[in-house]
Amino acid sequence: MAKLRVGVLASGGGTNLQAIIDASKKKQIDAEVVLVISDKRDAFALERAGKSGIKAVFLDPEKYSSKELHENAIVKILEENCVGLVCLAGYMRLLTDHLIGKFENRIMNIHPALLPSFPGTNGQADALAYGVKVSGCTVHFVELEMDAGPIILQAAVPVLDDDTKESLSKRILEQEHKLYPKAINLFAKGRLKITGRKVKIIS
Ligand code: GRF
Repeated sequence: MAKLRVGVLASGGGTNLQAIIDASKKKQIDAEVVLVISDKRDAFALERAGKSGIKAVFLDPEKYSSKELHENAIVKILEENCVGLVCLAGYMRLLTDHLIGKFENRIMNIHPALLPSFPGTNGQADALAYGVKVSGCTVHFVELEMDAGPIILQAAVPVLDDDTKESLSKRILEQEHKLYPKAINLFAKGRLKITGRKVKIIS
């Protein structure tokens, strides 16, 4: 069977992107990254894509007069490249219905906290400041509300007394790199069934 074609949207360093690329190269997942799109010209994620021979596209939000037009451009490239699953990996923009509506239940995100706790852009620092003893990461389907879609997989890590934002982020990131490819593979194998808020993993 043909592999699932994955398009990744990333704004930054792209270590999650790299983990997905590596898992694909090692044939650990039935999916391949065929396209990386960034809203940042200097995103290292674009370089990572280039190094792996993956099409890398910078779509400058400033060049579009509205969010809708920027998202329409993203949709066009995703469709031209026959992308079956969109993965947000450190993509720092909230998506609207223009993109979400075109890829319903086919957009995933990874968040560095155990949702629904600590949504937003500071998941690790917020968990630390709150004083929780356990945090982690969550892969979920994307809906209009930020970090609120149905949860696919979660992994927990301990929060240690002497943790800093950096040390906790590093511990969480190690889990992210395992969790995201796992979730993509389940999707690729047709093993995720969404019913309302719940995602069942079927065998
Ligand atoms: C990760 O912590 C991810 O959970 C969050 O953004 C960060 C992206 O890191 N959404 P990277 O660009 O994949 O290294």
